Amino acid sequence: MPGQSRVEVCSRIEEVRGVVHQVRREGRVVALVPTMGALHAGHLKLIEEARSASDVVVVSIFVNPIQFGPTEDFRRYPRTWEADLELCRKGGAEVVFAPTVEVMYPAGSGSTFVEVPELSDRLEGASRPGHFRGVATVVLKLFQIVGPDRAFFGSKDYQQLQVIRRMVADLDVPVEIRAVSTVREPDGLAMSSRNRYLDADQRRASVVLSRALAQAILTVEQGETDAERVRQILRLTIESEPLARLDYAEVAEAGTLDPITRVGSGHPSVALLAVKVGPARLIDNALLPA
Ligand code: PAJ
Repeated sequence: MPGQSRVEVCSRIEEVRGVVHQVRREGRVVALVPTMGALHAGHLKLIEEARSASDVVVVSIFVNPIQFGPTEDFRRYPRTWEADLELCRKGGAEVVFAPTVEVMYPAGSGSTFVEVPELSDRLEGASRPGHFRGVATVVLKLFQIVGPDRAFFGSKDYQQLQVIRRMVADLDVPVEIRAVSTVREPDGLAMSSRNRYLDADQRRASVVLSRALAQAILTVEQGETDAERVRQILRLTIESEPLARLDYAEVAEAGTLDPITRVGSGHPSVALLAVKVGPARLIDNALLPA
């Protein structure tokens, strides 16, 4: 029962394989929720949705070094183990897979990578070279280790979700990918482990991302079809906040993430933002009315 369940913690590959093997032999459906820990209400929603759609939920907690650039926050990424376990229990997860770096990348391994080049060179990929190669590689490893029937990812990391969908399709990985909509703070800020880096002023300023996206949606609802005009609205809104520094503001086709010239007229599109606020680099996105 959610809130009271016992969580089995596995740190070795054979352990988690054994548990999942047994569960699947009993005919039960297994869901995987991959995370890097520092869990919050967004992660909780993934676990809860996984729980309601499956019999057994495995949460992986692993801060994956190969998806961080050399100057990024791998070392100081928040690690909140006890609170994470509590949240997994609360969400009704049965198993937590928490390997060390040595278990995932033993000495002598690490020369094989998964690349999804078409979706990985732009947006987050342009600002963070090698990031999606690191994500796709670790997610495929987790799928191979755990062997879930389905896996849950947040639309908050929209490009990541598309990269994983494409990888699974291209490599015939027998996992069903489910997307979960973004969980937000009451003022609209998308929940993120990196929000912990913000001081009070920066936290207040960070609401500008969701405000810009809301403005973009409104503009399209009011009949704007020029994608460049929507990009401009996104940029101007971000620039109106002195503590925010725009990395990118894009309007793209929803599946391929190709930049587009027209919005609406039946074509699904998405607005995507990356913005630096103090020490944090924040991302957010919203589907635009088709
Ligand atoms: P992490 O940032 O911990 O996120 C784990 C999952 O939670 C991702 O699928 C992410 O999209 C989802 N998530 C984060 N914030 C959310 C929010 N506010 N609402 C809904 N879902 C949210 O993403 C990663 O870890 C890693 O790249 C990973 C996939 C685990 C590979 O290392």
